[in-house]
Order: sequence, then structure tokens, then C-alpha cells
Amino acid sequence: MPGSGKTTLAALLVQTLAQNEAAGVILDPKPSRALAETVADVGGTIWSLGGELAWDALPTDPTELANQLLEIEPVDGQMRVYRNAARLQALAQAEG
Ligand SMILES: Nc1ncnc2c1ncn2[C@@H]1O[C@H](COP(=O)(O)OP(=O)(O)OP(=O)(O)O)[C@@H](O)[C@H]1O
Ligand SMILES: [Mg+2]
Repeated sequence: MPGSGKTTLAALLVQTLAQNEAAGVILDPKPSRALAETVADVGGTIWSLGGELAWDALPTDPTELANQLLEIEPVDGQMRVYRNAARLQALAQAEG
């Protein structure tokens, strides 16, 4: 909901993470200058669309990120079958 305090909460989270020397990633779809300044103040890195600093989420092996994302999915027998089928399909496409 607009004006409900999302950006203010994000700024507090950034400061709290920094105080605890913990890492975090904030996605700000409605770029707030104040939030960017908060991130900069704690020594954070700021990527922006079309900015000078590029972030490559798919570095050398794109399957690495895919596997990391899938790790949070619950896995039962059926899920394993679907996942392996999807991997085979992706491999076949990459080779062909
Ligand atoms: N916990 C709070 N107590 C009092 N005021 C607050 C609190 N959180 C935010 N505000 C104030 O409410 C206003 C809107 O906050 P904020 O910009 O964080 O909202 P937002 O959800 O990010 O808004 P938008 O959707 O427009 O981006 C600001 O003036 C902010 O200072
Ligand atoms: Mg906001």
C-alpha cells in the first residue's frame, strides 16, 4: 500500500544488517534516493538498471543460480522426477 512505510522499514533493515555485519540484498522497484543513501552510508553496493555497475546473476555457469533457487523448494519423489526431467530438457536444449 502506498505510503505504508515499506521504504522506511527497508532502510531500518539495512542499518540493522550493517550493525550486525550481516549481508542482505534489497530490491527497490520504486527507486528511493533516501534508501540508496542509507545503503551507501553503510558501505553497501548499489546496482541500478542501466547504471555503470553491472550485476551478472548468471556468471560462468547459469545452472548454479538455478540450483540455488531450487534448493528452497520442498522435494518429494514426484518433485524430484519433474526436476530431473526439466534438467534433462535444459541440457538437451543447451547441447542441441
Ligand atoms: N513507523 C513509522 N512511523 C511513523 N511514520 C512512518 C513510519 N514508517 C514510515 N513513516 C512515514 O510515512 C511516510 C511514508 O513512508 P515510506 O516512504 O517508507 O512508505 P512507502 O511504503 O515506501 O511508500 P511508497 O509506496 O510511496 O514508496 C514517510 O513520511 C515516513 O517518514
Ligand atoms: Mg517507498
